[in-house]
Amino acid sequence: MIMDWQVDPDAQPSDDILMQMRAAADQAPLQEGIKIPCTASVRICGEDAIREMNRAYRGMDTTTDVLSFPSVAYPAGITAGACPELLRREFDDGAGACFLGDIVISLPHLLRQAEEYGHSPRREGAYLLVHGLCHLMGYDHVEEEDQKRMRRKEEEILSAAGISREDGGEGDEALLRLAREAMELSYSPYSRFPVGAALRCADGRIYQGCNIENASYGLTNCAERTALFKAVSEGAREFTALAIASRVPAWPCGACRQVLNEFAPDLRVIITWGEGQTAEKNLRELLPESFGPEDLQEDLKRNGEGI
Ligand code: THU
Repeated sequence: MIMDWQVDPDAQPSDDILMQMRAAADQAPLQEGIKIPCTASVRICGEDAIREMNRAYRGMDTTTDVLSFPSVAYPAGITAGACPELLRREFDDGAGACFLGDIVISLPHLLRQAEEYGHSPRREGAYLLVHGLCHLMGYDHVEEEDQKRMRRKEEEILSAAGISREDGGEGDEALLRLAREAMELSYSPYSRFPVGAALRCADGRIYQGCNIENASYGLTNCAERTALFKAVSEGAREFTALAIASRVPAWPCGACRQVLNEFAPDLRVIITWGEGQTAEKNLRELLPESFGPEDLQEDLKRNGEGI
């Protein structure tokens, strides 16, 4: 999703809030099944500014957490994914995308609500943005059924962006459940050995991965590395726990152990199989006498760059 960000000088969110918002924004059109490029604008502002917008555009002189102004007029009960023709008609050649509308988020509300709900500001930021994006994609929450549909879509988008309901929680159960859920998406037509993984970052984010096989066999990517690469490519560098699900007990392969060692030599690795049996080992046990970045540093220290 192409986002046009405007951050007011008095309402600067931290980088991790923005990063999580971007990940959530990228997932919104994907999870809605929109096939053409879309764009939306987001303004992050303070309390007075959102109150002023609420008064000017909605005639309500009250402060609020998020406002959305859809620019596409969806038929009643229809959301963006179900009307590709309508979106195509709204396509702006200059922008190379279909403009879905504007969202305004109040940073003070975001921070306060995160504290109230006991989750991270990152999750609250992503939630508010996803709520706004759902409105821009035609969802609403006037009727109870519509509200349920909107909540389901919001949760789908958030979890696809690697931010689950349990974000910030310490529960291994949640991580194991996400690993089992990831296993369902395994692409393993050759081995028929599905594997799922869920990797918890030090900042609470969770990334899921599955094994992805290839007709050339050797290019297969394991579930653990899929999860790790997703996480690292989103900026995560520190990890605390990895859950792996398969149908029989299986510890990570040698290649995955080595790749995990690069970032988290002290990682807790929990496997689950069958009817929910589990076992745990530390990566140090799984990869004794490991080779890692510190070995290169040691060589450089002792011998300099010359050979
Ligand atoms: N596999 C994993 O995803 N993780 C492991 O640690 C072991 C093996 C996958 C790779 C391949 O798709 C299938 O399991 C059989 O080797």
